[in-house]
Amino acid sequence: MSSVTVRVPAKVNVQLSVGPLREDGYHDLVNVFHAVSIFDEVVAKESESITVVVNGKWSDQVPTDDNNLAIRAARALAKHAGRTYGAELIIQKDIPVAGGMAGGSADAAGALVACNELWGLGLPFEDLMEIAGDLGSDVPFSLLGGTAVGTGRGEQLSELPTGGTFHWVFALANGGLSTASVYAECDRLRAASGAQVPWPQLDDDLMEALGTGDAYSLGAHLSNDLQQAALNLRPELGPTLEAGRQHGALGAIVSGSGPTCAFLAIDALHASDLALSLTSTGAAHTAVAAHGPVRGATLA
Ligand code: C5P
Repeated sequence: MSSVTVRVPAKVNVQLSVGPLREDGYHDLVNVFHAVSIFDEVVAKESESITVVVNGKWSDQVPTDDNNLAIRAARALAKHAGRTYGAELIIQKDIPVAGGMAGGSADAAGALVACNELWGLGLPFEDLMEIAGDLGSDVPFSLLGGTAVGTGRGEQLSELPTGGTFHWVFALANGGLSTASVYAECDRLRAASGAQVPWPQLDDDLMEALGTGDAYSLGAHLSNDLQQAALNLRPELGPTLEAGRQHGALGAIVSGSGPTCAFLAIDALHASDLALSLTSTGAAHTAVAAHGPVRGATLA
């Protein structure tokens, strides 16, 4: 096989509950991931060494050196297989970079699936999940897709059944936010308040809303413990969230560590109306309608 193509979705967190800071610098989470229909594409081609080329909307913001998560994924896979392999990875980016939608994790997951195929390794999904967890907290979910609850630092996943398709609008911000700096701001806010940080708990009402496909109830139960920290770092997101609510969003939330804002719509038509309202009023410069859940990293 000389070329393999994999499509990988973005995610939104419908619940992100952040526990106390651990000794290893991470936080224990209850992280309900939901994969949505904004995709990066990763093509792996036969090559002498492992290299990456990034094309698409935000390609200039993606590193192509050793910091590139797709390169690190391909290297980790080769190491796991115990051999030296090469691949040229060509990434077509549609997921915002550093936007809180797991774009880098998607590319890593795509590289794992593509190189597993290109190199004829035939490694089982469980092995790819283990390698993914070492690459980053969100990479296993990019492989799995659907809707799932992540515990630990987010990498220990259980699939959640959902009772239908949910329709979303994502307002993209100019420039990204570093995940580490948003967690650090969250810790700073908590230290300043002096309140004890509770152990994160899965929201039963949210689970029921997902299970029955009730968008109204899901909208009412969206939650993100990182939201205040993201708003402190990017105050202009407050008016964007408010504009979405004014235009009838069932729920409005910062996606993960931000700065992308996610709005839950009633149906597909409402989502396209909402996207248009957000851009035409200037509340967002770009708004994209999408649906979820969708499958994780998949061979095209
Ligand atoms: O795992 P990943 O590399 O995506 O994490 C990026 C950063 O986000 C970590 O260095 C850490 O600062 C923060 N993080 C955290 N707790 C988690 C996941 C991520 O503090 N559960």
